[in-house]
Amino acid sequence: MAYNLLKGKKGIIFGALNEASIAWKVAQRAHEEGAEIVLTNSPLALRMGELNKLAEECNAPVIGADVTSNEDIENLFAKSKEHFGGGVDFVLHSIGMSINVRKGLPYYENNYEFTHKGFDISALSLHRVLQIALKQDAINEWGSVVALSYIAAQRVFPDYNDMADNKAVLESIARNFGYYYGTKKKVRINTVSQSPTRTTAGSGVKGFDGFINYAEKMSPLGNANADQCADYVVTLFSDLTKMVTMQNLFHDGGFSFTGVTQAVIEQMASE
Ligand SMILES: NC(=O)c1ccc[n+]([C@@H]2O[C@H](COP(=O)([O-])OP(=O)(O)OC[C@H]3O[C@@H](n4cnc5c(N)ncnc54)[C@H](O)[C@@H]3O)[C@@H](O)[C@H]2O)c1
Repeated sequence: MAYNLLKGKKGIIFGALNEASIAWKVAQRAHEEGAEIVLTNSPLALRMGELNKLAEECNAPVIGADVTSNEDIENLFAKSKEHFGGGVDFVLHSIGMSINVRKGLPYYENNYEFTHKGFDISALSLHRVLQIALKQDAINEWGSVVALSYIAAQRVFPDYNDMADNKAVLESIARNFGYYYGTKKKVRINTVSQSPTRTTAGSGVKGFDGFINYAEKMSPLGNANADQCADYVVTLFSDLTKMVTMQNLFHDGGFSFTGVTQAVIEQMASE
């Protein structure tokens, strides 16, 4: 069901790789709610070719950008402004990648070249996007920026590896940049801390099946899926949440504040 929550709004969506991607669902949902969007992803993701399907569905241009490149991000905002004839009202940052995770190097044996690369892509990229947007005055007043995070920023989940540090910095950037962008342009910036979700990035984490099942049992409402995440993100892009900024918002069925559930107690007792 659509409510026209984003009617007349324009936005940029980073990170839709395939139908399972959280960003894919947000793009569909934003389009359904009346927004016009530009889709972007890395040149590697574009070569995989699936994004064109979404672009057609949402009637959106695709502008490639590697988030580690200033030049690419500058070009993305410049072209988006041209396309829309002005600034945007929302930006979704839905990007994450750890080479240490991919290569199976445990946290205590990380390769720092990999760590730097993963940090650049997963955390610093939010700062880069915001800095360039501010410089180009590319986000309209009362615009909304959302980046996706995970609770490993606050608590230890061993196989999440260096992504835990990346998420802690990502949330910190949202808070700090939220202060400056708020005072200068009334732009709001938040992170949404999402339940484990079956996507390409999610499934790359070692032991993901155990991880997602545990979270399901530990959440009073169960895990939030990607469609539900998209619903939530759309409300944050809408005018109904204008005074929410610099927050890390848990979208996790209650997992973050649950000590233990009856389901987990019963499972432990049967061992
Ligand atoms: N899946 C989960 O369990 C889960 C849980 C909480 C938070 N998140 C976060 O959600 C976000 C989206 O991930 P997802 O689960 O939808 O997986 P996904 O693999 O579909 O999305 C990750 C995206 O990052 C993009 N990316 C990687 N390197 C890039 C670069 N250099 N430049 C531009 N884009 C680049 C990929 O192309 C891809 O589209 C990530 O920040 C992830 O950490 C995921």
